[in-house]
Amino acid sequence: MNLVLNPFVAAIPANPLRALFPYAARQGMLNLASGHPSRDAYDHEGLTEALAKAGADFAAWTYGPSGGDPELLAALSEQVAEVPAGHRLLVTSGAQQGIDLAIRTLAPPGAAVLVPEPVYPAVLSACAAVGVRAVGYRVAASDAAMSGLADALAATPDACGVYVLPTFGNPTGETLSQTQRLALLALCAARGLPIIEDDPYRALWFRAPPPPSLMTLAPQVPGAVVIHLGSLSKIISPGLRLGWAIAPNAVAAPMQEARQASDLQPNSLAQRVALHYLRLGRLDAHVARVRALYAARHDALVERLGAAGFVMPPVEGGMFVFARMPEGVAREGLFERAVARGVMYAPGDAFALLSGDAAFADRMRLCFVGLADVDVPLAADRLVAAARG
Ligand SMILES: Cc1ncc(COP(=O)(O)O)c(C=O)c1O
Repeated sequence: MNLVLNPFVAAIPANPLRALFPYAARQGMLNLASGHPSRDAYDHEGLTEALAKAGADFAAWTYGPSGGDPELLAALSEQVAEVPAGHRLLVTSGAQQGIDLAIRTLAPPGAAVLVPEPVYPAVLSACAAVGVRAVGYRVAASDAAMSGLADALAATPDACGVYVLPTFGNPTGETLSQTQRLALLALCAARGLPIIEDDPYRALWFRAPPPPSLMTLAPQVPGAVVIHLGSLSKIISPGLRLGWAIAPNAVAAPMQEARQASDLQPNSLAQRVALHYLRLGRLDAHVARVRALYAARHDALVERLGAAGFVMPPVEGGMFVFARMPEGVAREGLFERAVARGVMYAPGDAFALLSGDAAFADRMRLCFVGLADVDVPLAADRLVAAARG
């Protein structure tokens, strides 16, 4: 067919993580690649009760406001989302839609948005879809002044915003310190650039809560503007496809219009399930249980792989660790050898800004939340065996 397609949409890079799904479906595969929590990390009893209540609720079956079900907005702001004065809360179809709406609202085609490297690949898709250039910046724990970001800002005069994943990052698992957060806010404020704070993993800390969000710290830095994105995916269920955005009123209004253009409103049934779940008052106990579960799996994986020579950067929450392979491992064909032994991981290359860039070729993103406890050491052993050839 001789169709003319929008070149931006035609050029959206394939999401390298979703391309791994067929391997995950193989019989007996231990999946360290996907960020999909195991069945025992869901509150089935609470969700079933919430679903029954939602089914009997007419609001679940009709249209609702584009910015979200008012009762859900109220419950979110009571339980999970603190909304500063002059800001509005919107319900989104997951944090992913929040990323898309923020980029579409802030950046015209051709302009740039700064993104951390290694990058969560779906941010690249959101940029590509609207013809926005993703320009990388480096983050290092030792770089208190965020000089990697300062350098990228200096080199990118047409930047329209800065995407940040400051807490329990994907793929790195790392968290910006409070000093780094304040430095980042100051750098962006000095340039008048809004920050897109993607914060879906915040609640999943192991031993102590993370530093305050950029949105919470912003009032300390005159001129700082933050759009904060959260998600019910990591604390209740990703299948609900619900998250939230908190944005200054002047940004929230066009974000809501942009959302209407695509799907009118968040799914009414899902919103009512979430509302009834929140009203059951089970969230805090559920999240506390999940934190302990994930911390134990993280520790078990790190211990086993660390002992075998993998470098496991410190991680204090979330779902991922960006492991470095032991010296001397034959990288060529490692993924295939791992799959043949019944374990899979997300190759570091998947998180490079440009396909073909080998900067993260010695890394693997390992998700420690998807396996049953007993399978964690088994998966580690299979990975070690694959690495040894
Ligand atoms: C960093 C990051 N942002 C956003 C998302 C999207 O999450 P949601 O299910 O809320 O759309 C994910 C999901 O893995 C993620 O890792």
